[in-house]
Amino acid sequence: MTFSEAEKAAITGMWAKIAPHTDSIGAEALERLFCCFPQTKTYFSHFDLCHGSKDLHSHGGKVVKAIGTAAQHLDSIDSALSTLSDLHAQKLRVDPGNFRLLSHSIQVTMAVHFPNDFNACTQAAWDKFLCKVSSVLVSKYR
Ligand code: HEM
Repeated sequence: MTFSEAEKAAITGMWAKIAPHTDSIGAEALERLFCCFPQTKTYFSHFDLCHGSKDLHSHGGKVVKAIGTAAQHLDSIDSALSTLSDLHAQKLRVDPGNFRLLSHSIQVTMAVHFPNDFNACTQAAWDKFLCKVSSVLVSKYR
């Protein structure tokens, strides 16, 4: 999967908006995930999932920062996320269907916070991008 120059611009442009707010955007995306798709909470039974918790901010920040790493390596996402891919495949073994749910929650969060920037074309680019990130993270399942 490759990205056109227009898609790359849409992805990195939105990343620049998100980058200063990784923890809060990530926490909200996780909260939306757990509210809309409660079955995903099973992976996080050791977390405090209350609104605004430290766990949501800390983990949300890690997830969004990893997405930022991918956004900065659009031509080499596989190698940029290789360690994370090992972790999700070998240790966490998250059901692959859950990645679509998190991608959806991230996009809703971006749309709420950046309504003028997150237009239909930018969303299409981000949907493709998050699909690629997800496929990398489930690529080592055996
Ligand atoms: C851990 C990123 C999808 C469940 C992590 C970590 C990152 C990350 C950066 C921390 C790794 C570390 O501490 O070294 C991502 C990204 C995703 C994604 C970028 C997709 C865009 C998912 C999904 C689930 C999930 C869909 C389950 C619904 C977990 C769990 C941990 C984890 C349970 C370990 C949490 C802990 O105990 O600290 N992920 N993840 N991830 N992820 Fe993912």
